[in-house]
Amino acid sequence: MNVAVIGTGYVGLVTGSCFAEFGINVTCVDKDEDKIKRLNEGEIPIYEPGLEEVVRRNRNAGRLHFTTDVRSAVQSSLVIFIAVPTPPQPDGSTDLSYVDQVAKTIGEHLNGYKVVVTKSTVPVKTTHRVKRIIDEAIAASGRERFRCSVASNPEFLREGSAVEDFMRPDRVVVGAEDPEAIAILRDLYKPLNLIEVPLIITSIPTAELIKYASNAFLATKISFINEIANLSEEVGADVHQVAKAMGLDGRIGRKFLHAGPGYGGSCFPKDTLSLVQFSREFGVEQRIVSAVVAVNEDQRNRMVLKIERLVGELEGKQIGVLGLSYKPNTDDVRDSPAIDIVQKLQDRGAKIKCFDPEAMDNAKRLLKDVQFCENAYDVAEGSDGLVLATEWNEFRKLDLDRVRELLAEPVIVDLRNVYEPAEMERQGFRYTGVGR
Ligand SMILES: NC(=O)c1ccc[n+]([C@@H]2O[C@H](COP(=O)([O-])OP(=O)(O)OC[C@H]3O[C@@H](n4cnc5c(N)ncnc54)[C@H](O)[C@@H]3O)[C@@H](O)[C@H]2O)c1
Repeated sequence: MNVAVIGTGYVGLVTGSCFAEFGINVTCVDKDEDKIKRLNEGEIPIYEPGLEEVVRRNRNAGRLHFTTDVRSAVQSSLVIFIAVPTPPQPDGSTDLSYVDQVAKTIGEHLNGYKVVVTKSTVPVKTTHRVKRIIDEAIAASGRERFRCSVASNPEFLREGSAVEDFMRPDRVVVGAEDPEAIAILRDLYKPLNLIEVPLIITSIPTAELIKYASNAFLATKISFINEIANLSEEVGADVHQVAKAMGLDGRIGRKFLHAGPGYGGSCFPKDTLSLVQFSREFGVEQRIVSAVVAVNEDQRNRMVLKIERLVGELEGKQIGVLGLSYKPNTDDVRDSPAIDIVQKLQDRGAKIKCFDPEAMDNAKRLLKDVQFCENAYDVAEGSDGLVLATEWNEFRKLDLDRVRELLAEPVIVDLRNVYEPAEMERQGFRYTGVGR
């Protein structure tokens, strides 16, 4: 079976490479010529643990190809995945222009039966819209003898462990109505039968909604624990222990109950906003998710106040920031709380030194007038306070004696609760975490 993946970003590149790892012949397409050139030279344009090896192995085996030629990729494939961006518009609704464009192109080049699958996260009913656009393009280019089925196959991988998540997912969701498409997609995911991954076949709107409901629920857990953290600070409770004890209840589960600066990244912020927006179009308010979004925005401001409370007036102060990606093990800085907090600190007159193990190049495109450093200790040197914004492993075991000596003031604001408050005070720091 030949598969094309259109859009070779965090999702498309992982999806394409991992299908190739199953032994399938995959062509990854992107309109970014530089990205395709780099991939064809063996370079991986993103930081994603384990991905480089999978790409290399499958390119060498001749199963994984990279091209900008969407026409040949479409024509040589039975299954075509759409994995292009679905960014938010200013009102929070989803910009479907990338998806629409790809759908039109597919229709214009159709040369036989195809299954076109939305892997991008798309509002409910978008996959049917893709079908309409393809059919219109088929008609406009006089190709009525060809037909296609559509399906929704939302992606649940997490950046930072994307390869592992794709190869060993908790579940695979396929929304499809055409028996032929269902059979083809079942066959495509057959290698996962071996490890008994549940394959959930649903209607198309159900599959589309599963993705939003899942992300919104996880975002809810984060905003929930952040509000409990805020309360903990006022009543002298420790949110770390609250979350731990809550999480031991099997009905609650311990994951996504870490208090911090709020969720970020390329998915939760836009997907929660999108769910609120498109629900409204169907006449339904998502009141819980609306509150989750508002709490998340407030949380970033609270982090800045927290820093100010410990450092004092921020005007003219030098603040060191450790971590810029929205979470560890990725170079993705899209909607990263760390980036937002740096900008808010700058707005209040602070000078920023920062370091991230992998996300500096991406951060340089977003941040201005910031001193980028070589490591955590350079960041600490001469700073009036150190903010731990993203919990990369290398920030979990800092040489604290060295950090204290380098800092102008022994102040640490730990937005990820990596360190123990009592121990930090014993070591001579003015320290605060979140909700402790
Ligand atoms: N990043 C994640 O962790 C994640 C997880 C699950 C789902 N998703 C969803 O997957 C989709 C893609 O996300 P991403 O993070 O991979 O985005 P990305 O920005 O990393 O990659 C998208 C790629 O598509 C390319 N592209 C855009 N228009 C194109 C066109 N017309 N033809 C060919 N290529 C085109 C871009 O050049 C880019 O390389 C989004 O809908 C996102 O919500 C992302």
